[in-house]
Amino acid sequence: MKISSRDLFLRTKSKAENWGWRVFTNFLPLYFTDKHFENLYRQKRDPWNYEQSDFEREKYLKTLEAIPEEVETIWEIGCAEGVFTELLLEQGKRVWGVDVSPTALSRAQERLKNFGDRVHLQKLDIAREDLEGTFDLILASEILYYLGGKEVLQPLEEKFYRHLRPSGYLLLCHFYPSGKIIHDLYQENHRFYKVAEEITYHPHRDYIITLLKKKG
Ligand SMILES: C[S@@+](CC[C@H](N)C(=O)[O-])C[C@H]1O[C@@H](n2cnc3c(N)ncnc32)[C@H](O)[C@@H]1O
Repeated sequence: MKISSRDLFLRTKSKAENWGWRVFTNFLPLYFTDKHFENLYRQKRDPWNYEQSDFEREKYLKTLEAIPEEVETIWEIGCAEGVFTELLLEQGKRVWGVDVSPTALSRAQERLKNFGDRVHLQKLDIAREDLEGTFDLILASEILYYLGGKEVLQPLEEKFYRHLRPSGYLLLCHFYPSGKIIHDLYQENHRFYKVAEEITYHPHRDYIITLLKKKG
């Protein structure tokens, strides 16, 4: 198979990010602050090119496919400008989207204005703040690796557990192989068990999607 120079660039960048994550995990929250994300959105609309990228579209569709049919309510962590939120709403789901960036949230609000009370958007720092309510599924896509190491991710396991209804789902999607370390962490306390896991080897960037289910 012929690999384009763009694929090569993206793969090299992804490899560096995977290794960078392992080396700098504990320092990442110092860099990836709420100000960092807010500045990113102020400088540029759709900073990760979610609207146009075929790679992201394919990843979104795979993530959608992983959602069990019975799921009606979703807490989407790091909903950004609402591109994936819109796909969830088009599937008939009710979504509570949270993000640290007010600019991203106001763009999401505009994008999703026709979905009425099926969508709620809220500014919330998942590592420091909390909300009310329980959901059928919690979705964390391309966000947990920004938050830090085990000391941040493990308390989140408790938060996710608390905000899921009995037998609710936790759906995780992150780059691979580093994302697997995060996804495995959520099974360490034996309160979630794995229902499905898929690793996609993509010319741009490998990623892993894991569906966990709350015990009991
Ligand atoms: C790479 S984007 C992923 C967006 C979306 N989940 C997706 O997969 O298309 C990460 C998002 O997480 C948000 N974010 C970062 N840290 C956060 C935190 N502590 N609490 C809530 N949102 C956060 C950022 O503002 C950004 O919109």
